[in-house]
Amino acid sequence: MTGDCALLAIETSCDETAAAVVVNGREVRSNVIASQVAAHRRFGGVVPEIASRRHLEAIVPVVEAALGEAGLGFKDLDGVAVTYGPGLAGALLVGLSYAKAVAYALRRPLIGVHHLLGHIYAAFLEYPGLELPAVCLVVSGGHTHLIYLRDHVRRRILGSSRDDAAGEAFDKVARALGLGYPGGPHLERLAAAGDPHALHFPRAWLEEGSFDFSFSGVKTAVLNYLKQQSGEEEGRLADIAAGFQAAVVEVLVTKTVRAAKEYGVKTILAVGGVAANTALRRALAAGAEEEGLMALFPRPAFCTDNAAMIGCAAYYQYLRRDFAPLSLDACPNLPLR
Ligand code: KG4
Ligand code: ZN
Repeated sequence: MTGDCALLAIETSCDETAAAVVVNGREVRSNVIASQVAAHRRFGGVVPEIASRRHLEAIVPVVEAALGEAGLGFKDLDGVAVTYGPGLAGALLVGLSYAKAVAYALRRPLIGVHHLLGHIYAAFLEYPGLELPAVCLVVSGGHTHLIYLRDHVRRRILGSSRDDAAGEAFDKVARALGLGYPGGPHLERLAAAGDPHALHFPRAWLEEGSFDFSFSGVKTAVLNYLKQQSGEEEGRLADIAAGFQAAVVEVLVTKTVRAAKEYGVKTILAVGGVAANTALRRALAAGAEEEGLMALFPRPAFCTDNAAMIGCAAYYQYLRRDFAPLSLDACPNLPLR
């Protein structure tokens, strides 16, 4: 494979065991995901101990499937990329230990990838010609950040959630509404049947000019409303879901568009699990268009956790020879710099 760079990418930071083969940072030869959702559902959230065990059972077959689908063997790989944080310690360790063993055995470089950088690079998988600078909204189950991406090395975090991540708020409200786990997609479906203007829930704008977010207020407002209204008919629940979603989306869109204008960029990216949300995608696309900007989103399967995005982010590190030592440790709270 002269000139080409084939990376095996592994992602086990939460409840998906994922492996992918990505060539030259763009060509997704395979993208395999073993979801553990069913194992955690009856607990209403991810149980770390169960996640680690499931990763351990799944990692070998998932990697074999990824190589098989790509039509490559271990020897064809130019490097091994792996998420080393942030995430659940025991879950990260499974992917990391496996990746280290493969890198050591093959004598190929190990590339440690930040999970959120992976989410950001999902946009480059979707739009191979994408150019920076851009402003990127990262909205996942554990994180909410607004980031100015100047180039592939320099970036600046403009704002973050001060309390619940956007996805966390979706999941908690969904749970209170009696919806299944994980709540975001269920809440989106219920909201589609409701009127987003029927109920008004608070928007936390914070200090003037701030790009930070806060979603615990709107979440609590919904929970309090539900308590007062016990015995509600079904239709009202859809209005509650729609009202909550509208409040979250309005703040996300307003701040993201304002950041893009302030930093003089033409391109807005929205990535992470919550970026799979249709209401957010529509509102951000419309808000951007009003200002003559372009909002881009990875397809939903690249928004939620996957290993292809890790392989794409790793490619840029590979080009810079930003390799990790085999002593690389899992970093559950790895900050994004
Ligand atoms: O990025 P992700 O797959 O995992 C983390 O890194 O956290 O994000 C998962 C989060 C969950 O909170 C899930 O409920 C939310 O993304 N999510 C959604 C939708 N799809 C996934 N939230 C709202 N609407 C959706 N369609
Ligand atoms: Zn994620």
